[in-house]
Amino acid sequence: MSNLLEVKGVTKRFGGVIANKDVTFSVETGNITGLIGPNGAGKSTMFNMVSAVFPPTEGEIWFQGKRIDQLPSYKVAPLGISRTFQNLQVFKTMTVLENVMVGLHTKTKSGIVAAALKTKKMRQEEEDMYENALQWIDFVGLSDVVATEASNLPLGKLRLLELARALATSPSLLLLDEIAAGLNNQETLEMANLIKAIRDKGISIFVVEHDMDLVMTICDKIIVLDQGEKIAEGTPKEVQSNERVVEAYLGASEDEEVIS
Ligand SMILES: Nc1ncnc2c1ncn2[C@@H]1O[C@H](COP(=O)(O)OP(=O)(O)O)[C@@H](O)[C@H]1O
Ligand SMILES: [Mg+2]
Repeated sequence: MSNLLEVKGVTKRFGGVIANKDVTFSVETGNITGLIGPNGAGKSTMFNMVSAVFPPTEGEIWFQGKRIDQLPSYKVAPLGISRTFQNLQVFKTMTVLENVMVGLHTKTKSGIVAAALKTKKMRQEEEDMYENALQWIDFVGLSDVVATEASNLPLGKLRLLELARALATSPSLLLLDEIAAGLNNQETLEMANLIKAIRDKGISIFVVEHDMDLVMTICDKIIVLDQGEKIAEGTPKEVQSNERVVEAYLGASEDEEVIS
């Protein structure tokens, strides 16, 4: 199994705050990898660097053998990294289909002139995008609301919509940022099954997740951060019984979930 993503000695400083400190790990092709840790551990910061929202202060990030840490996000996304956001980024007045299609328009190869002329190639690309969008909407189970405005959908379906939009860009690595936040038990279970089905389609997945049951159920490997540093890495079983991990969670504030 080869390394799809390699994070090497990554440090991120925000002024005097060290959000990530010399963090090294890899995400293997075909796996579901989890990134966990108490609030403020540096999980979102790591995700933002991998999706090129901002660069690391020190260290390197490699994707499919290519160094990506100094690239702008518009150059990283087409390499095959796609993500969902903890705070949903859905266009409320657009339908489900429009929301998925809007993520795809940057992918068309025809230029502006071709678009104005509506060449045969352009029409074919539009047709393919449309088919592709419908296919992923069906895959996440939103076929019955394909023409519904996003503002009329409950949170659970909005999370599925973000997932469909991320999948429609054909990523090889999918980053999911607390995709189960706010979902009920049944919806979380369905999300777990969906994530495994995506992995089975050959898409590698990297999740930041607060729901410990979900993480422990779906992940092949888990990386644990605490106060910016990697304190453990291993299978769900290994991580659960790791003393430093248990301590980090017990030492966290009262509203933190404790690994059970
Ligand atoms: N854009 C930012 N500017 C300044 N400080 C930040 C920024 N993003 C995160 N931090 C700080 O970095 C640390 C790690 O935060 P974060 O990565 O959001 O943790 P987590 O996602 O694990 O809860 C925190 O102390 C946070 O306040
Ligand atoms: Mg966070």
